[in-house]
Amino acid sequence: MTTRSDASSPLIRLDDYRAPAWRVAKVELAFDLDIDAAEVSARLHLHAPTDDQPLRLDGENLELLAIALDGQPLPEGRWRYADGVLEVDGARDGSVLETRVRVKPAANTALEGLYLSGPRESGFLLTQCEAEGFRHITFFPDRPDVLASYTVTLRADRERFPVLLAGGDPDGHGELEGGRHWARFVDPHPKPSYLFALVAGRLQKIERDYVTGSGRAVKLVIWAEADAIDRCGYAMDALERAMRWDEQAYGREYDLGVFHVVATHDFNMGAMENKGLNIFNAKYLLADPDSSTDEEYRAVEAVVAHEYFHNWSGNRVTCRDWFQLSLKEGLTVFREQQFSADMNSPALKRIEDVALLRRAQFPEDAGPLAHPVRPAQYSEINNFYTATVYEKGAELVRMIAGHLGREGFRRGMDRYFERHDGHAATLEDFLGALGEANGIDLAPYLAWYAQAGTPRLAARGHYDAARRTYTLTLAQHTAPTPGQPDKRPLPIPVKLALFDRAGHRLPLRVAGDAAPEAGATERVVVLDRAEQSFVFEDVPGVPVPSLLRGFSAPVILECDYAPDELALLLRHDADGFNRWEAGQQLAARAYDNLRDGVGTEALDAWCDALEALFNDTALDEALLADLLTPPGEIELAERERQVDPSHVHALRQQLQEHLALRIGRESLQQRYEALAAHTSLALDAAAQAQRRLKRRVLELIARIDPWGAHQLAILQYDNAPGMTDRLAALGVLVRGNAPQARAALLHFRERYADNPLAMDKWFSVQTQLPGEVVLDRVRELENDPAFTLKNPNRVNALFGAWARNNPDGFHRPDGSGYQWLAERLRLLDALNPQVSARLGTAFNGWQRLEPVRRAAARAAIASLAESSGLSRNLGEIVQSMLRG
Ligand code: TRP
Ligand code: ZN
Repeated sequence: MTTRSDASSPLIRLDDYRAPAWRVAKVELAFDLDIDAAEVSARLHLHAPTDDQPLRLDGENLELLAIALDGQPLPEGRWRYADGVLEVDGARDGSVLETRVRVKPAANTALEGLYLSGPRESGFLLTQCEAEGFRHITFFPDRPDVLASYTVTLRADRERFPVLLAGGDPDGHGELEGGRHWARFVDPHPKPSYLFALVAGRLQKIERDYVTGSGRAVKLVIWAEADAIDRCGYAMDALERAMRWDEQAYGREYDLGVFHVVATHDFNMGAMENKGLNIFNAKYLLADPDSSTDEEYRAVEAVVAHEYFHNWSGNRVTCRDWFQLSLKEGLTVFREQQFSADMNSPALKRIEDVALLRRAQFPEDAGPLAHPVRPAQYSEINNFYTATVYEKGAELVRMIAGHLGREGFRRGMDRYFERHDGHAATLEDFLGALGEANGIDLAPYLAWYAQAGTPRLAARGHYDAARRTYTLTLAQHTAPTPGQPDKRPLPIPVKLALFDRAGHRLPLRVAGDAAPEAGATERVVVLDRAEQSFVFEDVPGVPVPSLLRGFSAPVILECDYAPDELALLLRHDADGFNRWEAGQQLAARAYDNLRDGVGTEALDAWCDALEALFNDTALDEALLADLLTPPGEIELAERERQVDPSHVHALRQQLQEHLALRIGRESLQQRYEALAAHTSLALDAAAQAQRRLKRRVLELIARIDPWGAHQLAILQYDNAPGMTDRLAALGVLVRGNAPQARAALLHFRERYADNPLAMDKWFSVQTQLPGEVVLDRVRELENDPAFTLKNPNRVNALFGAWARNNPDGFHRPDGSGYQWLAERLRLLDALNPQVSARLGTAFNGWQRLEPVRRAAARAAIASLAESSGLSRNLGEIVQSMLRG
């Protein structure tokens, strides 16, 4: 199933890249499918520019049944299969290699290659090939720079597998003897093996006819098991919106006659962009008001769009090698962010994305797993599907897009897609095409792709009253990361504005500017060395700078604002994102007040400003909800030299208590009641905003009047029209350790026993129990009959939510949380290395814990490292964790 190696695994290096010695122009695959065993016949049409290199194909745990070269069966001495490589003698340019292998879907718990989703009696078969799953299906040069056209024939029992799907357009189907049937698919677009997919089983469908901008008819088909098919409508709508948007925003159309999308409950990640046959974790495809929250609806829309956008950014133009992963992922996340911003609120979307970056990527960049957006080496590529490659990668594209401007970026993207269509490209190709189309050299941005760590950007301002000038001095510094002791300065675009003390934006005139834009009140300056000053002229008084507007670069801004300056930005900035950002900075300073017990200036300024905004009826309610939310515990912990997660938790609670007291119990109640009067299931922005604010207000009430909040919560739970309100209420009850929580949890469990996605929420909400006792609950839940280590969603709902989202509960000073997680990782690793390695990253940040917890965490990680038979996946994580 998986490659296990006790010895340290070899490192793959970017610098060692060599073009493939052998290519495959065309591959013909035939599958004889069944639950326990499937046979795979492959005919590879081989090409070699020179045939002095032996033919070597990747293959993992394949049982070789037959092998022939150019029509002749190959005797044993002419081939060797060991350590994942099949070596074949005598192949020449133009040769055809035929192999027949057997694989075991039902025994495949790693969910990589061909596997069974669901119970053996009723489940269905599917494949997952990215990054290196195809070698678990057949022998092949399993690397993204080998592009081939695929013809795939599926054969199986008609009654057990009525639906047979593969990527590409259908090319016939028919009956076979013995109750079997067949179906064939042809994909005319050459693709790398990681984009291959098949699905076989009992599935229902919904269909829609789509006509592209240029008039091509496309059949959109979403497939799911019978109990889920009526929850696919929203995804279908989202897909149609995404297709239309890509035509308008990027001029990109779909390129096959049919587009299949399939939902499965057994999936290692979010979704997969297989050509013409996207496969989704059901979590990101199914949605209905009764079992999905508003956040989940938005996630479905975003992930459906993400996978669809890959058809161009990833599939038509693919990656030369896995070091270039961000070429498709960073770009596609960026495209998905643009789409979601257009479909919803741009400010809210930006807030969500920056919050995610800070929660998930900054800690990665600051810890032992830090790596560049384009890593220089890896042992297990699956460990590099990270927040750095995805989210920071998207930020890099955003910076470059900002540099080129809207039209320039579109021109550059057109050039990129045209020039590299049908090819496997590199990040240099990407920057080259964008730059050339605009006559700009973007090469300096490559340094961002090569250097790990989050730059710190220090800003100080000086006002010269006599000269009426304001001098802004910017300096950058990036701390060393593992393997990269010395950092270079990077180009950092800083979008800025200056406010006067009445909260008005000032016209900007930069000294020495060639063509100042008359009257402009916002502009970008680029810091491209360690330190640089920018002088603004004609400034009437000491301004308040608003820096890094829209989060124009993924850096940590350090600026000595006085609290009242941040409060001014929080009150007056017209841009929702910047307003939120000023509030976050102010809240962090208020947190410092509470921690140090010195001063209350920031705390007062934060509470005052929010009290005023709370009573501002013109303010968007969703934005208000976000403004009322201080930075999370993970982000606040980044401010500590030695982290005591319980202390961080307590301080954040206090912060919210101060805020709730300032707004006042009465005002909170009134607002809550006004919001609770709306009980619609509508998904429009206004309805979602009301639910979001209602939840936040209820949480604030819980900070100062738990008993009263629990009364409201139980009513809200009982009367909730949909999952958003129901889960919000349940969360308040559980986190408040309310006596009513038990009954509500029992009710929820009974009501949703047959809905795995809702049951995942039932598990994860309970991991939010406050304090150390949560470990007992986690233990209890692990023995619940509904728990299984074999399902990644369930594992993440329990262990992931506990270890990541409840730092106070996970980081017990006695270390029992760490030991518990380490033991679970060991068991899980034997089943599914991709999922265990990902969960293992929950230990990230252990070096910055206070000494007692640090020692306990280290012991748990070290014990894990010493276990024999760890997968390469988890082994690499654990080793880096200890080395860093
Ligand atoms: N390429 C997928 C995406 O769109 C993610 C992915 C990579 C994946 N490897 C996977 C999904 C393994 C499932 C399993 O981001
Ligand atoms: Zn992707």
